[in-house]
Amino acid sequence: MLTVAVRYFTRSGNTKKLALAIADAVHVKAEEVSVPLNEYTDILFLGSSVYAAGVDDAVKKFLLDNRDKIGKIYNFSTAALISSTYKQIQKLAAANGIKLAKQEFHCRGSFAVLHRGHPDEEDVKNAVAFAKSIVK
Ligand SMILES: Cc1cc2nc3c(=O)[nH]c(=O)nc-3n(C[C@H](O)[C@H](O)[C@H](O)COP(=O)(O)O)c2cc1C
Repeated sequence: MLTVAVRYFTRSGNTKKLALAIADAVHVKAEEVSVPLNEYTDILFLGSSVYAAGVDDAVKKFLLDNRDKIGKIYNFSTAALISSTYKQIQKLAAANGIKLAKQEFHCRGSFAVLHRGHPDEEDVKNAVAFAKSIVK
């Protein structure tokens, strides 16, 4: 049986919305990156976003502290402008010797007047389909 976990970082709740839906779809609990992995995890859905300077340091710390317990990261993200956090997570994964899956999920996240309401119902539905395509 493959072990699965969901961890995320959020500031305004956008990425959390996806994390909760993904966790529900794969029958685990979504936790913030402040919660360490309690066992070896084959499939880690990792949610993040960018805030000018990149992904938050809490995500970097989580990967460093938990690297021995992560089989493979499946990235998901929200952002206002960039196309996803994949590149940022790819760098961190490489630096920590962690595998990163090619598949990822990204959608727009509301920011000030941009993308109001996102992630919306459709985004959440797509995130669920993504998660289910990984954990069959
Ligand atoms: C201080 C700050 C800086 C941001 N910088 C960027 C950015 O450089 N590029 C981008 O695409 N989005 C940027 N955003 C938008 C967020 O990435 C977007 O709102 C995201 O969905 C927030 O996710 P969260 O609610 O899970 O924290 C920024 C938002 C904040 C608050």
